[in-house]
Formats: sequence, C-alpha cells, structure tokens
Amino acid sequence: MTGKSYVSIGAQYGDEGKGKITDILVSEGNIPADIIARFNGANNAGHNVQTAKGNFILHAIPGFFQHRKKLGYIGSGCVVLPEKTRPEISEIERNGYSLEGRLFISAKCTLVQPADVFLDKATGKEVGTTGNGIGPAYARQALRQLGNKLRNIRIGDYLENRREMQEIVRQNLEEICQQYKIPADTEAAVEIFDRETKALGKYVCYDPLFLVSRVEEGKNVLFEGANAVMLDAVTGDVPFVTSSRTIAAGAYSGGDLPPKYHAKTIAVAKALMSRVGNGPFIAELGGERSERYCNEEGGYKYTKEKEAQLYDVAKLLKSDDPFQLGIALRMLSDEYGATTGRPRRIGMLDLVMLRQNCKQNGVDELYLTKVDVMELYSRTRLPGIPVVVAYKYESDGEITEFPPSTVAQSRKVTPVVEYLPHFFWELSYARKAKDLPGEVHEFVSFVEDFVGVPIYGIGVGPKREEFVRLK
Ligand code: GDP
Ligand code: IMO
Ligand code: MG
Repeated sequence: MTGKSYVSIGAQYGDEGKGKITDILVSEGNIPADIIARFNGANNAGHNVQTAKGNFILHAIPGFFQHRKKLGYIGSGCVVLPEKTRPEISEIERNGYSLEGRLFISAKCTLVQPADVFLDKATGKEVGTTGNGIGPAYARQALRQLGNKLRNIRIGDYLENRREMQEIVRQNLEEICQQYKIPADTEAAVEIFDRETKALGKYVCYDPLFLVSRVEEGKNVLFEGANAVMLDAVTGDVPFVTSSRTIAAGAYSGGDLPPKYHAKTIAVAKALMSRVGNGPFIAELGGERSERYCNEEGGYKYTKEKEAQLYDVAKLLKSDDPFQLGIALRMLSDEYGATTGRPRRIGMLDLVMLRQNCKQNGVDELYLTKVDVMELYSRTRLPGIPVVVAYKYESDGEITEFPPSTVAQSRKVTPVVEYLPHFFWELSYARKAKDLPGEVHEFVSFVEDFVGVPIYGIGVGPKREEFVRLK
C-alpha cells in the first residue's frame, strides 16, 4: 500500500506555533509521518520546538530529528543559505542528534548567495524582511540570469563544479555591491560561502524521486509549512510578504511530490494574532500607530529588554488605549521574533480572515494556540474577549464579511468587534477537555462555527505539554 502525505500551514501572519503543534502531532501519532519535509522558505522561519534536549529554534531544518527513526527532507521549493544552515545543523548534532543519513537536501534547491544577503540587508527595510536574502534569491531563481550576469546556482550544480561556480558567486556579489554601493569584504564572503556550501555536501540528495519512491513504498510524509498564508508571495498582502508560496498547494510544487497522495490539510492559528514587519493588519491593536512603533529603527528599537525597562505592564493593561494594550499583551505573552528578536505587532483574533484562509486552503483540522493568553483580557477594561467578525469601510460605513483583495482596500477598513465571555482562570494546568472551564468551550465553539472548520486542539502555554486535544 502506498503512503500518504499531510500538509501543515500557518493560517495567519506566521509564528502561530507551527513548530510546537507539528511536533505534538507527530509524537502523538496523530500524523503518522515517517518523513518531515520543508517545501518553502529558509532561515526567515523560526520555529520553537521543545525536545528532551531543551528548546530549539529551528530555521531551515524541519522538526524531525527529535523523533527517532524519522527522516527530514528539504524540498526544491526552499532556498538554502549555507552560512546559517550549516551552523544550525552543527548545533543540532552537538546536542546528540546526528543528521547524516537522516537529513536530505534537494540538489535542486537554489542557493542564497552572499549577493542576495547584502542586497536584502540594503533594500529590505520597506517590507521589513528578516535580512536573510530570501527575496533576492527567489527573484534570481525566477530571472535565471540577467543577460550574462546574476546567474542563479542550485546547490547540486555548485558542488559539482565549485571552482567555476565560486567565480560566478564572486561576480554576482561584486555586481550588487557596485550597483548598490555596498562596502563589503567580498573575498571573505565568497570564502565563507564556499566553505559552508561544501560542508553541506554530505546532506545533498541527487535523487528527484526521493519522496516519491518512499511514499510508493508506504512511507508517510508531513510537509511542515514555514511563514504563513498571509505572507504568500502571490496571494498575500503583496509587497508585504515573503517570496515563496506558503499556501497548502505549495507543498506539492516545493516539496517534490505529486498531489495524488494528499490526505489532510492542517492549519495552525493563534488566538492572539501577531505580525512582524510592515503591511496591513486590520485587527491590530493600536492600528498603524502600533505598526510604526514596532518598525522603528527597522524593528530593532523596542526589543524585549527595552520594553521591560520602559513600561509598567500592569498599568498598560488597564489602559483604554488599544495601542498601550497591545504593548502589554506583547510583553505578557512574550511576542518577540524567534528569528530577529523584533517586537511582534499584536492583534485581536480576526475570524473574517481566518475563515477565508481556511476555505482557500481547504483546511480539514484547525489547531488554535495561545488560548491561555485570552485570560489576560479579563484583567483589562474590555467587556470580553475581542474577536473580529466583520470589517467596516470607514468612507461609507459599509459592512463586509469578506477580506479585501487589495492592500489599499485593507487600509480603508476597520474591524467590527464582538466580545466573548472572559475567562478568569489561568489555563496552563489543563491537559484534557474536561479540565477547561465552560467559557473556553464556548470560545472554541464560537470560532469553529464562524470559521467552519473543527478545532482539534488548543495551546494553553508555551511548553510542549501545555496542549489540550479536543478531538
Ligand atoms: P512558528 O513559527 O509558527 O513555529 O511559531 P514561533 O515558534 O515562531 O512562535 C510561537 C510562539 O508562541 C513561541 O514563543 C511559542 O513558545 C509560543 N507558543 C506556542 N503555543 C503557545 C500556547 O499555546 N500558549 C502560549 N502562551 N505560547 C505558545
Ligand atoms: P515562521 O515560519 C513571521 C515576514 C518578515 C517580513 C516578510 C518578508 O516563523 O512563521 P523575508 O525575510 O521572508 O523576505 O521577510 O515576511 N516573515 C515572517 N514573519 N514568521 C515567519 O516565519 C516569517 N517569515 C517571513 O517579518 O515581514
Ligand atoms: Mg516563527
């Protein structure tokens, strides 16, 4: 019998807790995966995963190594940044998990060249990128080469002909540094790139049928999404997006498997929404003021330490100003970027957007994290837990239940909020559905009914065991 494939995605703007939830689903056997694969992105992702050896923040490596006998695969839809991926592998191996013979990186993955990283650092501020060269690398992939310049190189091609390829990497870097007047030690950058790419050689997989053959033999695959639906390069809030396909369908083009084995789509959403970088966020507490504040100095001004120094969080929590409330919720629920440390912009749970994203991706099972954090609202002046149930056009007061399709329209609507009954209990003790107070069940049922997808489990704290299965 052939195996099956499963896809998990982030249903909002990223950082929904995908790392934690997929780890739980795989450990509990709810998803009987033998191979965990990435199909998009690279080091822009940051997934917190708690293992027996402590907390790991995974960026490019799928969360497979902590499960004995499971394999990891990085599909051709990912780009590879050797100077960060090699150290990430070494860190995992230093903790006693050998990846040799267990991790397979498609030879067809495009390399993130030093030119891409420099270019992203010089030009990514408007979008608020993570500075990992993701956009320029995917752009170069699509360009193939520009005239006879800026040639794209895949990792397999590089390793086969290092000397010649190194020269192209150098030319690309010099071209970009000259054009953008970037002072860079090109010699050192090319050397490091070459060394780290070579070190990845033992993980590179030259078999394009790697997944196909294994699934035909009966093995199951879980595609672990990175970034999230709203950051999709084509259907997200362009240009405030990442540069790969993050939607469920992307798993099959970027993951090197035909869609015929697809069994189930899982989405992870966060009850307290967040967004890092620029771009529309209709449900944001404090609106564009919060967006500007969080992105000051490229997002590096108001770090966790800085906000802890500046504010009396108990006071902010009692404020009538949503902007101040957003800061308090960020501080109390530790919403700072796993990849860059930037403050995450905070928002109410937007059910209008979540419903659309679930429908567009054909989500079968929804997991909702950070439900414990909803308790914080009971300490504010709000009459209940706010959820967004419609949008209102400010110009004429028209109400809509569908998210706008353009960025300009998104900037013109404000959220219509409904308040659900507060819960006054800390939930982190809960392990079973019967441990949860009635208000939590009411909250979950409201979300399920609105979105039209069953919620299979909720997060009640950051720790791995702080999870309640509902179905
Ligand atoms: P990912 O990128 O989707 O894997 O998510 P991240 O790891 O970047 O961010 C999620 C953050 O939320 C991490 O700091 C997690 O520890 C935390 N987290 C995940 N689930 C829960 C939960 O149910 N409750 C709380 N309070 N925190 C959670
Ligand atoms: P995980 O997998 C949150 C955002 C960046 C920026 C935009 C483009 O941890 O959920 P990029 O470096 O990709 O060109 O940046 O996309 N972004 C993420 N935000 N979580 C992520 O991944 C993200 N990956 C990209 O902040 O706004
Ligand atoms: Mg993350």
